[in-house]
Amino acid sequence: MSADIEIRFEAIYARVPAASATVPGRVNLIGEHIDYNGGTVLPTTLDKTVTVVLAPNDSGSHKMRSEGYDGESLRAVNEPASGDWSDGVMGALAKAAELGWIRGGFDVLVSGNIPGGAGVSSSAALITAVLRAARSHAGAVLDEKTLALKAREVENDYIGVPCGIMDQMAVGLAGLGEALALDTVSLETEVITIPDGWRFVTLHSGVSRKLTDGRYEARFIECERAAEALEVTHLCHAGLEESSALPDPLSARARHVITEHQRTLGAIKALKAADSAEFGRLMNESHVSYSGDFDASKPEIDTLARDAVALGALGSRLTGGGFGGCTVSLVMADKADGWLEALLGRHPNAWLVS
Ligand code: GLA
Repeated sequence: MSADIEIRFEAIYARVPAASATVPGRVNLIGEHIDYNGGTVLPTTLDKTVTVVLAPNDSGSHKMRSEGYDGESLRAVNEPASGDWSDGVMGALAKAAELGWIRGGFDVLVSGNIPGGAGVSSSAALITAVLRAARSHAGAVLDEKTLALKAREVENDYIGVPCGIMDQMAVGLAGLGEALALDTVSLETEVITIPDGWRFVTLHSGVSRKLTDGRYEARFIECERAAEALEVTHLCHAGLEESSALPDPLSARARHVITEHQRTLGAIKALKAADSAEFGRLMNESHVSYSGDFDASKPEIDTLARDAVALGALGSRLTGGGFGGCTVSLVMADKADGWLEALLGRHPNAWLVS
C-alpha cells in the first residue's frame, strides 16, 4: 500500500486502512465491440492506475471519497446505482458482500490518474480495485479470471451497462508492454510481448462521453438483433454474405463486427511476427469500419486519427466503447517525440494520456 494514500485515508476517516489495491487502465489495440459478440480482442494496460483503500466503519453506510472529485458520497449499503461517480464502488462492495467478503458499511478512498469517460476502462479498474481490496481484507482466494467475471456483473447488473468481458480481463490480467489476446468465448488468453521499438500512443481527443449514456447499449442491441436475424449465437461467427442481406443499419453493424474480428486475428499474427506495417494497416481499416459501419466516431476523432497517420504513425484508430475518448496510434519509438509534437500542434484540444 502506498504510504501517502494510507496517511491521507487516516487523516480523512480517523481509522487505520484495512486493505488496498492498485489496478491499471487499459487501451484496446484492436477489436472493438466484438467482446460481447464472441470475438477475440487485443488490449494492453496503461501506465495509469487507480488505487482504492478501504476499512469497515461499523455502520450501515459506505463513505466514499475520490481525490478526483470534490466532496464525499455517503450512501446506504443497499442503495441502487444513481449515476454518481461512486456507483462503481457501491456495486463492487455489494458484490463483495454477496461473495461473503465483507459486511456492513465501509470507508473508501479512491485515488488515481486514469481519465474517466475516455474509453480507457477507468470504471473496470475502479471496480476491480475495490473487489481486490475486499478480497484481500477477507483473506479470500479467488482467481483473477473469476474476479473479472464478477467485476463484469457489477457493470451489467448494478451499473446497467451491457458491456463485454474485455476491460475486466485486461485490467486484471495484462501487464505493461504486453498485449493480451483474449478469446471472449473460452476466456483463453495469450500474452504477447509488444516488440521493441513499437510504441502505442494513447491520446485523448478532447471529446468525452459516458458509457451509460445509452449509445453503447444501442449498438449492443443492434448486434443482438443482427445475431438473432442471422440465427447465430455470436455475431462474429456469422457469414459476411448473409449479413449483407440484413436491413440497415443492422447489415453495417454486422459487417463491422465480422470484419473487425478477422482484422483482430490478423493483428495478433502481425504482432507475433513484429510486422508493424501490417499491424498499422489493420488499425487504419479498423478505424474506418468503426467510424463508418459502426457509426461510433466523431468528426474530430476521425481527423485526429487521419492526421496521426499523415504525420508518420503506422496506424491510428478510435479505441474503447466509442462516441468520444481516445485514439491509439502505433508509432516507431525513435519517431514518437517529433510525431507527437507535430500532431498536438495541429490538435490543441487533444492531450497525451500515455
Ligand atoms: C467498452 C466495454 C467493452 C467493449 C468496448 C468496445 O469498453 O466495456 O466491453 O465492448 O467498450 O470494444
